[in-house]
Amino acid sequence: MKGKMKNYRLITDNLSSRVAESYRVVRTNIQFASLETQVKTILVTSAAPGEGKSTTTANLAIAFAQTGSKVVLIDSDLRRPTLHKIFRLSNPVGLTNLLTQSVAPEIALRDVGVPNLRVITSGPIPPNPAEVLGSSRMRDLINNLKQSFDYILLDSSPTLAVADSAILSAVVDGIILVVAVAEVSLDKVRKAKAQLEGVNAKILGVVLTASRATRARTTITTTGDRGEVFRCQASLNTSCSWQAAMLSPWCSRALSACTCALKALPRKTSPPCGCAI
Ligand SMILES: Nc1ncnc2c1ncn2[C@@H]1O[C@H](COP(=O)(O)OP(=O)(O)O)[C@@H](O)[C@H]1O
Ligand SMILES: [Mg+2]
Repeated sequence: MKGKMKNYRLITDNLSSRVAESYRVVRTNIQFASLETQVKTILVTSAAPGEGKSTTTANLAIAFAQTGSKVVLIDSDLRRPTLHKIFRLSNPVGLTNLLTQSVAPEIALRDVGVPNLRVITSGPIPPNPAEVLGSSRMRDLINNLKQSFDYILLDSSPTLAVADSAILSAVVDGIILVVAVAEVSLDKVRKAKAQLEGVNAKILGVVLTASRATRARTTITTTGDRGEVFRCQASLNTSCSWQAAMLSPWCSRALSACTCALKALPRKTSPPCGCAI
């Protein structure tokens, strides 16, 4: 969320129960999604930077740990790692050292004062993040961690910026796409989705993060199949700030806040307010 000083907020920072509840709803939906197929390793990404990936991954990890599940949270955003900042940790060693086997796992598995939760920070930034993340050692590390953890959550870089999250999609059970409602265009989100699906990534769903209450009204512009331009005006009531809502996969009903202003559109064209992303 551009221009503002990043202040990371964790549900352990006695965030209002309503916000904490919204992360628990996301967690429960993921647990439901894993009724059919096992979802133990989850990557969180977004189309663009600053949409709320790290905050969402951190709070989801806490929400899972609060159920008594053993959770490890990995900072695999080797471009702009921030999990160490979010948990107020130093970052001398971490994932990159584990992958080069220069430290023992117990050194990199950091206790952050949340029962059942361990955090692996990024460690030093390598010159070749995509290669490091695509290595067989990354796959081995995930498989080893599966032995002792119920859930493995990976924070990552934005999908449209670098290939890292597409590469990592091969070693996880599913992906969550974070969408900052008032910040990113639907077209960018569509491109990110297409890019991930292009590498057979399994997308579990979307988490919407909202911009601050000051931007209560926002316009979302997208193009229809025949190049029609649709403008949807989303009215986000103040309670939307700091809310993350998990939607059934690709259900755009989240945009039901959307009051579609069909501007100068041929009648026969159906508005994308059900706009499938
Ligand atoms: N659900 C949310 N609602 C409102 N603001 C949020 C939300 N999640 C994160 N933010 C804010 O957005 C900014 C970017 O968050 P961050 O998690 O670092 O994004 P990313 O990892 O995608 O770059 C931070 O200032 C954070 O406080
Ligand atoms: Mg981040």
